[in-house]
Amino acid sequence: HFGHTIFYEEVLDSTQPTAHRLAQEGAKEGTLVICEEQTAGRGRMMREWQSQKGKGIWMSVILRPDVPTHKAPQFTLVAAVAVARGIEDVTGVRPAIKWPNDLLINGLKCTGILTEMQSEPDLVNALIMGIGINVNHEQQDFPEEIQGIATSLKLQAKKEIDRAELTARILFYLEHYSAEYVIEGFENIKKQWESYSCTLGQRIKATTLRDVLIGEAVEITDDGVLKIKLDNGEIKGVYSADISLEP
Ligand code: BTN
Repeated sequence: HFGHTIFYEEVLDSTQPTAHRLAQEGAKEGTLVICEEQTAGRGRMMREWQSQKGKGIWMSVILRPDVPTHKAPQFTLVAAVAVARGIEDVTGVRPAIKWPNDLLINGLKCTGILTEMQSEPDLVNALIMGIGINVNHEQQDFPEEIQGIATSLKLQAKKEIDRAELTARILFYLEHYSAEYVIEGFENIKKQWESYSCTLGQRIKATTLRDVLIGEAVEITDDGVLKIKLDNGEIKGVYSADISLEP
């Protein structure tokens, strides 16, 4: 079962490089790297990720799905669903998923997921799923620059959350949904993802590395691509972007 092998450290620069190294050394699927504090936590799009000591869950999980590289983005959505369900079970609060895999509660971000891939030409060798959850932060624990956009589960559920219980629950669902993906395909997971989504049907602004697209988020495809209907009626797909809701 996932979490069969655990690398726990008090402090790491980031759990991602350790997980990458272990994966290269042949670590099995379900291997977990977790720490109390990260001194150089990484976010998507080269951002930093604040990882205060003892407040959150800062972990990386190694997945080894036997799929071609173009299927990797689907696992980002698999992870988002697994984490959302884990949070819902343990806190009683239902998070929303902002495409592709930010989790929000009341419009504030409580979780980020960073998927990194090790691949051979066209075959996934390992996926390193980095999951960062703000669990027991008080408001003042957040640095000024993310006040107003970040929140913690404790602030939203109005109770202290057991990090070990939540970690175990998320690993359970990650294993469950990865197995489901392999046996039954993406369909049910996509439905689950859609049921948590706060992006679909909304007017959004998507900032990609190349351009800015404004329009309605109409669907996610079976490959995990977000389709946006622009004001001129044209439909464009984005693989990776920053999304904000437009008035
Ligand atoms: C994002 O929203 O930009 C993704 C944030 C991912 C943060 C987690 S914390 C554990 C793992 N180690 C890291 O350095 N980053 C991920």
